[in-house]
Amino acid sequence: MLYRKSLFACPVCGMSLKTDGKNYKCGKNHSFDAAKSGYVNLLMSNHMNTKNPGDNKLMVKSRSDFLDKGYYSHLLDALCDAVNEAVSENDVLLDAGCGEGYYTSGIFDFLQNKGIEINAAGIDISKYAADKAARRNQKVEFAVGSVFHIPATDGSCNVLLNIFAPFCREEFIRVIKDGGYMIMVIPGRKHLWELKNAVYDTPYENNPKPEEIDGFEFLKKYETKKEIELENSHDIASLFTMTPYFYNTSPEDKNKLENLKYLKTETEFEILIYRKKGEF
Ligand SMILES: C[S@@+](CC[C@H](N)C(=O)[O-])C[C@H]1O[C@@H](n2cnc3c(N)ncnc32)[C@H](O)[C@@H]1O
Ligand SMILES: [Zn+2]
Repeated sequence: MLYRKSLFACPVCGMSLKTDGKNYKCGKNHSFDAAKSGYVNLLMSNHMNTKNPGDNKLMVKSRSDFLDKGYYSHLLDALCDAVNEAVSENDVLLDAGCGEGYYTSGIFDFLQNKGIEINAAGIDISKYAADKAARRNQKVEFAVGSVFHIPATDGSCNVLLNIFAPFCREEFIRVIKDGGYMIMVIPGRKHLWELKNAVYDTPYENNPKPEEIDGFEFLKKYETKKEIELENSHDIASLFTMTPYFYNTSPEDKNKLENLKYLKTETEFEILIYRKKGEF
């Protein structure tokens, strides 16, 4: 099969990669085989501090189960509109910290259904997440990689997404082209308030983050809120397992959720849109 241009760059030398779908290689013949599901592992061993970094199998499965039931479809819809305003035909979209690709894939499909062809890719440091993402959508390229060492060439992205994932200003500045967009999603003040209330004696609200980021022009913020109803303990457990609270909660507090069969909770997301400064 013929090699075509990949959206990814070689993690060894930084040159762009080509792929035939099964293998990725650069001009210097550094070569990376894709996994059976289609993702490619571009994470260098010195770019991770544990052997199995990022979300583990259970967290990835919990997030997939939860998201696939549509509980956060209102966020996906709002993101599709936000990306639609920013992208043009043939643009490159990179989802940095894409998880199992629910939003990456949903946005790609939404644009395609509108007749807008883009090139989309996602990276995540978790191989379980990249594997699930690749199975979800064969038209989007997925790689294991870190947002702190993004396997993409300088200025190669028109739109970068960063959804509930680690943030690296220097790398985002490097890979987004001048005038390109960065779209971030962070939890709002009361996000999952009732879930936290069910677990903790004294839950805290999320702190708002300062909007200004050096090197970017802050364009606008969308807020999307919705009360969701979870009607069984499996979905409640999936939601809790996919949150950062899961690993920081005592077994006693976790037990409080076990007998819960119904939970109505607020979801509150902030979508922040930025444009990279520079000449364009
Ligand atoms: C809360 S999840 C969000 C996933 C996805 N964006 C979503 O909203 O469904 C955070 C993700 O960041 C990934 N992650 C953690 N550290 C990372 C890093 N240094 N580089 C890339 N991804 C990372 C985790 O593996 C996890 O999939
Ligand atoms: Zn190379």
